[in-house]
Amino acid sequence: MITADRLKTVQEYYFSRKLREVRGLINEGKPIINMGIGSPDLAPSPEVLETLKDAITDIGAHQYQSYQGLPELRAAISQFYKDKFAVETDASSEILPLMGSKEGIMHIGMAFLNEGDEVLLPNPGYPTYTSVSKLIGAIPRTYELKEENGWFPDLQELEQTDLSKVKVMWVSYPHMPTGATASKEKLTQLVDFARKHGILLVNDNPYSFVLSQNPTSILSISGAKDCALELNSLSKTFNMAGWRVGMVLGNKDHINAILKVKSNMDSGMFYGIQKGAIAALKSGKEWFNALDEVYTKRRELMFQLADKLGCSYDRNAVGMFVWCKLPKGSVGSEKFIDKVLEDKHIFIAPGTIFGSNGEGYIRFSLCVKEEKIKEAIERF
Ligand SMILES: Cc1ncc(COP(=O)(O)O)c(C=O)c1O
Repeated sequence: MITADRLKTVQEYYFSRKLREVRGLINEGKPIINMGIGSPDLAPSPEVLETLKDAITDIGAHQYQSYQGLPELRAAISQFYKDKFAVETDASSEILPLMGSKEGIMHIGMAFLNEGDEVLLPNPGYPTYTSVSKLIGAIPRTYELKEENGWFPDLQELEQTDLSKVKVMWVSYPHMPTGATASKEKLTQLVDFARKHGILLVNDNPYSFVLSQNPTSILSISGAKDCALELNSLSKTFNMAGWRVGMVLGNKDHINAILKVKSNMDSGMFYGIQKGAIAALKSGKEWFNALDEVYTKRRELMFQLADKLGCSYDRNAVGMFVWCKLPKGSVGSEKFIDKVLEDKHIFIAPGTIFGSNGEGYIRFSLCVKEEKIKEAIERF
């Protein structure tokens, strides 16, 4: 059967391909240490697991669930945004739970983009913004992020270009893969830019609670709801990546447009998962402190590993990764990681999978136990 033309616009996801190769090496008996992907290896809190277990015998637990999620889940998300970001939302109309924030990228694209519309997206950035734009028939237009600019777009330079066809702009602060943050002032500049040019600004914010001293939401900027949406996720904050729980927040009209797409694609999220998510969102300060404690120790070791490789990095970056610049005169990122995989059996993500500005960089995931990082250091 001939596949749809749209499939010609995208490739299989890098990690889907590369991890097959890594699995092959594991099957050959190679002692692979995987520092590639940001899939938390830590467990969700015991309360979350208990809540899930208890929920499976509740009446109606196995029926289809509401397209908008349980009212209690939306209320918990609303309270979480109020407590953590001082952002007020109407739980009945300004929040839509998602099955992971990744699916939200497609839903937002389907809800707001026509073929030929332009989408501004970060280079380097999460590859899904590009692939979803292409699958929809929109035109991805990268904006350049550079270390010397703090990985923040040059908005003045962008304004010198024709923005008339731009409909959506993706940003992600704290930024993946670099771990750069954007101050409130910088977020205000983004909101002003979006408003001025009639662009829907979407902040993809799944790393706001990993090693971040000052979690920030784009919706905390005055007037942001007029032109901005925010995606968030329980994957990294609560070690629940496999549960697939995310959320999108924004004004009622924007959320309704996304619901129109989503309600035609799935039939609600499993009840037990929603109950577990509610328990997670109610976690106290201890949860966040404990998470940071583990990642801080791992990051210190990862810095040591990066030192061994002669890489440089920003100690103040946040999130679940250490983004490293390869030493001067090094081979390209992909050659570099392939050689490390072959010689040392350690898998690291090459910066190029996040765009051309990732050339010369590699990304270490902190989802690796301390003993394994120590072992990796030993191997060098
Ligand atoms: C920047 C960014 N956005 C979104 C996602 C997707 O997260 P989720 O598990 O919520 O779908 C990831 C996952 O790694 C990510 O790095």
